Amino acid sequence: MGLTDSAFVRACRGCNDGPIPVWIMRQAGRYLPEYRAVREKVSFQELCRSPELITEVVKHPIARFDLDAAILFSDILTMLEPMGMQIDFPEGGPVLANPIESPADVDRLRDIDVEKELSFVLAGIREIKRALPDKPLIGFIGSPFTLASYMVQGSGSKNFARAKRFLHEYPEASQKMFDLLADIAGRYLRAQIEAGADAVQVFESWGGVLSRRDYIDWSVKPINRIFGHVGDLQAPRILFVNNVAPYLDIVKEVDCEVIGVDYLIELAEAARALPGKSVQGNLDPSVLFGPADNVRAETKRILDSLDNHNRVIFNLGHGIEPETPIESVQAMVDTVRAYR
Ligand code: CP3
Repeated sequence: MGLTDSAFVRACRGCNDGPIPVWIMRQAGRYLPEYRAVREKVSFQELCRSPELITEVVKHPIARFDLDAAILFSDILTMLEPMGMQIDFPEGGPVLANPIESPADVDRLRDIDVEKELSFVLAGIREIKRALPDKPLIGFIGSPFTLASYMVQGSGSKNFARAKRFLHEYPEASQKMFDLLADIAGRYLRAQIEAGADAVQVFESWGGVLSRRDYIDWSVKPINRIFGHVGDLQAPRILFVNNVAPYLDIVKEVDCEVIGVDYLIELAEAARALPGKSVQGNLDPSVLFGPADNVRAETKRILDSLDNHNRVIFNLGHGIEPETPIESVQAMVDTVRAYR
């Protein structure tokens, strides 16, 4: 186990001298007709709770594009349900029925036994490894701030003003909530690796709304606490940061091997600012809605701009959009494959 010779894991470790690996954030999802067919039969939450269906949808993008890594099918918010949050996934994005509004709400959050209460996810990982034994599998969680923003806000938001306000209004309750989230997330990531995940990714999707000062306290510190739970294991640790540009010098110090870079910054510039780390990214998902020639040109431009191709994993700069043309995805993957 470990698949340490795969292009993906070698690139995470900065020593890939072969073809450049590529996978796609949200690669199992609604842009694929085979995923939509599964979703016509079951709800998103039923899908996330079935190890067999999880495995089926994880295989869809691998079967089509033979991507260099598979990613667990689940959601960052799944971890919050046994903690006591009531979550629904309607068409427009997740909604939480009982948001955190006061320190008393934080006190009601439950610590959980991840092996027991998230057993369906771990069973899914074991099932995926049986179905795709030669494919590196990425496990994942949400960062404490990204999770807390949904918990406090109750839904998605443009700037998560309520979540930011909560940090300053109730710093002690916030610290308690973030410590709990980080420790559960750390144990959960460890359990994912023990079940078979070959690498792990933390999604810091919304930390980019924080001031630099708050970024250190409420994004980086809790994330380092999570990564500390798995630092003794072999699995490379990836941190995806949406809006990383203002924080590159801070992120440089995070205890992980790879930084996932959003599309607001040049990948080469991020790579130069992160010596010793590999980078993952960062084609703008909206480029995939344009002509295939432009998809190829943009993909090649990003790759051409890099100084060191031994430590890059090609990906989008954020999740793929539901109506994305499949031909564009193929054009991107073919271009990365042919690059060297
Ligand atoms: O990448 C993958 O293929 C693995 C599966 C995965 C999902 N969500 C499945 C999903 C992963 C890694 C996530 C992470 C996630 N979930 C993030 C971090 C990544 C990011 O986008 O920044 C966030 C913020 C969430 C919370 C969440 N879950 C949102 C905002 C939504 C609705 C947005 C949307 O695309 O509809 C979800 C639901 C969700 N999670 C879907 C999928 C495939 C759509 C569910 C459906 O209707 O089938």
